[in-house]
Amino acid sequence: MSHAPLDRAARHAQAWLDSLDTRSVAATVTREELRRRFMAPLPESGTDPSTVVDELAAAAEGGQLASGSGRFFAWVIGGAVPSSVAAEWLVSVWDQNATIYATSPIASVVEEVAGPWLLDLFRLPSTASFAFTTGCQMAHFTALSAAREQVLRAVGWDVGRQGMAGSPPIRVLVSAIRHVSLDRALRYLGIGKEQLVVLPVQADGGIATDTLASALAVDAPTIVCLNAGDLNTGAFDDFRALVPLAHSRGAWVHVDGAFGLFARTSPRYDALVEGMDLADSWATDCHKWLNVPQDSGFVAVRHPEPHRRAMTIVDSYFVAEDKARDEIDWTPEWSRRARGFGIYAALRELGRQGVQAMIERNGDQCEALAAGMASLPGVELLSPPRLNQALVRFHDPRPGASDADHDARTERVIARVNASGEAFFGPSTWQGKRVMRICVVNWRTSPRDIERTIAAVAHACSAD
Ligand SMILES: Cc1ncc(COP(=O)(O)O)c(C=O)c1O
Repeated sequence: MSHAPLDRAARHAQAWLDSLDTRSVAATVTREELRRRFMAPLPESGTDPSTVVDELAAAAEGGQLASGSGRFFAWVIGGAVPSSVAAEWLVSVWDQNATIYATSPIASVVEEVAGPWLLDLFRLPSTASFAFTTGCQMAHFTALSAAREQVLRAVGWDVGRQGMAGSPPIRVLVSAIRHVSLDRALRYLGIGKEQLVVLPVQADGGIATDTLASALAVDAPTIVCLNAGDLNTGAFDDFRALVPLAHSRGAWVHVDGAFGLFARTSPRYDALVEGMDLADSWATDCHKWLNVPQDSGFVAVRHPEPHRRAMTIVDSYFVAEDKARDEIDWTPEWSRRARGFGIYAALRELGRQGVQAMIERNGDQCEALAAGMASLPGVELLSPPRLNQALVRFHDPRPGASDADHDARTERVIARVNASGEAFFGPSTWQGKRVMRICVVNWRTSPRDIERTIAAVAHACSAD
């Protein structure tokens, strides 16, 4: 069989990576153009595979966001370190099905290595069970399935056998600034909005101890969801105070650490993360701050039994291998990509010190970007850098300008920066005000990228 399509793909990949410093960070072609290039009736006959790859690369050109660029600061997307990209290529070439040990012995064993490495990196209990999920959303789903299983079992209800209809109601205490992926994970678990008790936060973005204490004063199966890194402000809950409090009332504590769990890798952030390891489950994304390609969530659960009970399934056509890790015991999926390889590769490439250095470097870069922008006329630093997040707002300089005018100017500046192709930011609404989010989460971001980005923002500001 010819390897030409793979050679072609490698060449296109190299060209893409070589262009990251000079190409537009934003997509440069319109949706209409992309549709025009791609839309066609289902082909009746086949095409030479190398031609398929070449034409795909040509037609995609300009339709990608260069989210791997060092000047991409929108959402919380993360770059991808070289060995993890290459490992992911091998995963595709090997086409391993990571359902059970028998469907891919090596995928199972790599998870047995990469899982404990991550527990060690995050300083979580080495006895915790874990799973590699698509993303943090499904990491929440997995952890909260275990939580549901445990808190219902404690009141004599077996959710696996009896389901949710007629079950004792579960109270879920969540922060007012939680990520909505939690709501969606809970919805999948049959826990609707009305079962959520939304707790207000203090000025620092954390839930007050008193607030949690009064919310816990109801005798019911309870799950508490805490924040490790709000995506606007980088706020953390006070784990040291809140987790023991929740435990004293028999609640399960789940932590959304989509990117904030990585703060556990640096002593610089000890004050934010202290006590986080006391929780019952933790969700994070390796495609965010470990910088592996997308589709790489991770969940850890202090209590392996409810985790396994919530996920496992057996069928006669499985081949059970004594003492092997069967991924299906821990994940919500059946056939799945062998996600452990990219993580294994990134952890080997970076090592503990390399991860820590990247987390600290991105934190410094967030501060440099925020300071550079705040020094421009009319720019307000609304939320100062915390971890790797900050918020800025661009004031309309006209006398008597209203909040709506400042909102509009903020939108305009973001749109201009993005249209310039020099850097890419996302908007958000924080405390009723439109803001530009600064999120630094990429190994590739360099001092030069920071300079270029501040210059691009200054230029966009000077346009009105
Ligand atoms: C704090 C937080 N939690 C959860 C998620 C959801 O993660 P995913 O997109 O991997 O499902 C995100 C995504 O940005 C996030 O920032």
